[in-house]
Amino acid sequence: MEPKTLGEFIIAKQHEFPYSTGELSSLLNSIRLAAKIVNHYVNKAGLVDVIGAADGTNIHDEQQQKLDVLANELFIKALINREIVCGIASEEEKDYITISGINGDNMNKYVVLIDPLDGSSNIDVNVSVGTIFSIYRRISPAGSPVTLEDFLQPGYKQVAAGYVIYGTSTMLVYTTGHGVNGFTLNPAIGVFYLSHPNMKFPPKGKIYSINEGNYVHFPMGIKKYIKYCQEETDDRPYTSRYIGSLVSDFHRNLIKGGVYLYPPTSKHPNGKLRLLYECNPMAFLAEQAGGKASDGTRRILDIEPTELHQRVPFYVGNTEMVDKIEDFIQIYD
Ligand code: AHG
Ligand code: MN
Ligand code: MN
Repeated sequence: MEPKTLGEFIIAKQHEFPYSTGELSSLLNSIRLAAKIVNHYVNKAGLVDVIGAADGTNIHDEQQQKLDVLANELFIKALINREIVCGIASEEEKDYITISGINGDNMNKYVVLIDPLDGSSNIDVNVSVGTIFSIYRRISPAGSPVTLEDFLQPGYKQVAAGYVIYGTSTMLVYTTGHGVNGFTLNPAIGVFYLSHPNMKFPPKGKIYSINEGNYVHFPMGIKKYIKYCQEETDDRPYTSRYIGSLVSDFHRNLIKGGVYLYPPTSKHPNGKLRLLYECNPMAFLAEQAGGKASDGTRRILDIEPTELHQRVPFYVGNTEMVDKIEDFIQIYD
């Protein structure tokens, strides 16, 4: 049998949404298109002028890279083009963007939150980066302008979420709440094919991913957990792997079994990662793949957001490993 393309897969799965009108399918297709265009630029980085810092900083006071800005523009353009999305929030935009429908009446149903380029400090050194997206149904009535409340929904209300990894090959991995499926881009013809159906974390994980350079700033529970990972027992020490791109670290841990940690530090008392467009989508994927995501005490998907760019400590990966981290936090912090 011919391998299934992402386009065919999206159509085949449309029935999973009761009363579906095909809009979510079309929205996923616009993400598929944007992913291919961004992939095209990421692959050319080094040949064309997209490497290095842009002129500005973003709302987080982080230096924007040229590709951060470009990926942001490309995704927003692709999402606006179809009459489906009423609002977009992005890591690179201070405020959310309101989209008017054809007649300016904003009948569109969905809001999208994106981290257009994740791990952007990796671009200059030819290491994997990604894109993360999260999709909700609006809660304000159709026909009115989108509101902040449409974006500040808890993660369990996501209708779809996923990431693109621009790695040795480019993959799009997503969930609509019916498991996680991964598609690999054949760059010769620009088509994503289903290559990783029904992705699940292996039951046991042996990899921990954390920026250990911040060790002195970590809470006691995390310091103790790191020592636990390094102890010699029958199945430890674990392996340490850290790319510095949540997408890439998560993707490896999903396939090989592991856990990603971004704890609070003295510099970032709430951690560094953003709840709405980094942690929630990854948490949705993790749970759909049989894993777990926590801020140390709470399920990530249950957190009621209060701000667009809110940060949260983040522990995500194999359920057993995240449980263990929660135990350490409970005992020591
Ligand atoms: P972004 O490039 O979107 O700002 O995200 C970078 C994030 C995350 O992807 C990565 O795991 C983490 O920041 C790395 O942070 P440190 O450099 O502090 O380890
Ligand atoms: Mn990011
Ligand atoms: Mn980013």
